Order: sequence, then structure tokens, then C-alpha cells
Amino acid sequence: MKKDLQERIETLAKLLFKSRYPVFFTGAGISTESGLPDFRGPDGMWTRRDKGLPPKPGSPWDSVEPNSGHLALAELQKMGKLKFLISQNVDNLHLKSGIRPDLLAELHGNLTKLRCPRCGETYGKSSGKTTCPCGGTLTSSVVDFGQSLPEKDLFLSYEHSRKSDLFVVVGSSLVVTPAADMPREALRAGAQLVIINAGNTPFDRYAHLRFWEKIGEVLPPAVQRLKILMGG
Ligand code: APR
Repeated sequence: MKKDLQERIETLAKLLFKSRYPVFFTGAGISTESGLPDFRGPDGMWTRRDKGLPPKPGSPWDSVEPNSGHLALAELQKMGKLKFLISQNVDNLHLKSGIRPDLLAELHGNLTKLRCPRCGETYGKSSGKTTCPCGGTLTSSVVDFGQSLPEKDLFLSYEHSRKSDLFVVVGSSLVVTPAADMPREALRAGAQLVIINAGNTPFDRYAHLRFWEKIGEVLPPAVQRLKILMGG
């Protein structure tokens, strides 16, 4: 491993070791190593669309498994070093990897869930339910452009971003709001910002620590180092 990368991984492990309230924020970039396309990366859905190309043929979203990046976050949760996870992804891979639903905000919904537009309650598609006990007719929980984000998930995301002392962005270009407001809220609260992302983001100049390498090359070794620092 490059010395420079090793040093930055060591720095990340130390930041996590010292952090009292680490909050993580993920985008489509954490799922590319599972075989799913992102949107604005070199081979992303929107990148290809803007070139008049169809999406790259890949595995259907409900057949892929969490990758080492997802599993590293689940490991941090077990170690008490993931206080909250804000995700823009709808692929269900964080829940599949063992992230606790009460520690997760899925700002853009989840392909496996239906939502009641009246009370906001969500139900697994596999439940076969079509109406909510409150009387609402269940619809897909996935948020389309222009639609409002789920209130509870948005409220919790602001709340935990403001409580964070370390805010780690993993695989997002940070160009879609209000999701991309969260790193700003964290910075305003005095949090240190870490960005692990192969592409540029509008927050790069504010990052205390920056990784351009693949998530799978950064998070797992950082978690291993943290385990040693914690005497594991
Ligand atoms: N390691 C590190 N970075 C990666 C990896 C990887 N293995 N794979 C992709 N990336 C980076 C890409 O370079 C890109 O900058 O992840 C970023 C993903 O950014 P986007 O494709 O813009 O995805 P995201 O930020 O989640 O988009 C936000 O936009 O289209 C809407 O609703 C959709 O939730 C999505 C929102």
C-alpha cells in the first residue's frame, strides 16, 4: 500500500478513535463495488445518459450483496463508532449489511419499501399491504426529483449532523440537496469533515482529510487499525 495512503488511513483511524459522535453519510459510490452503477461517476447513469449512452449492463439491484465498505460501516456500528448513518441510496444494502434501522436515515427511500403518503409509515413490499391502517394508499418510498423527502429521515439527518464531531462522507458527489446540506450542518457544528470519494465534490476544500482511493481500499483497513487502537 502507498505510504501516503497508509498515513491517511492511520489518521482516519485516530480521528475515529477520538470521536465521541461519528456520523457517516453515503451515496451511490459505496454500492459500485457491489456491481451497482452510480449516477455521476465516469460510468454513472447520468454521465452515460448525457453522452446518449444507455446505463451500463449490470446486476439487478435486488440480486447484489453488501460489499466490504458496507460491512466496514456495520463493524463500526458494533464498535460504537457509528452513531448515525445518513444514506441517499435506495438499494437496501445498508439494512442488508446489518445497520440498525433506528441508526439509519434513507433520505431518498428504499426500493424494498412502500410508504404511506398520509402518515409516513413504511412497510416492506413483501408484506403485500396496499393500504395503511390510517387509510392512506401505500406508494413506493423512492423519492423522485422534485418530490419532498421523508420528514422523519430528514429531521433525524439534520439532528445527528448537528451533533456530530466527525462527519464522514463515503461515495457521494454531494451535489443533490437537501441531502448535501448535511455536511454543511456538521461543519457549522464544528465537526471535522472526512471525504472518501473518487470524484470531486463542492466540499473538498473544507475536508480535514480526503481520500480519492476506492472505498474498499480505505474503510476496511481503517476499521482494522481502529480495532488495534481500541485494544481489540
Ligand atoms: N470508491 C470511491 N468513490 C466512488 C466509488 C468507489 N468505489 N464508486 C463511485 N465513487 C464516487 C464517484 O466518483 C462519485 O463522485 O462516488 C460518487 C457518487 O456520486 P453520485 O453518482 O452523484 O451519487 P450520489 O452522490 O449518491 O447522488 C445523489 O442523486 O441522482 C440522484 O437520487 C439520486 O441519491 C442520488 C443523488
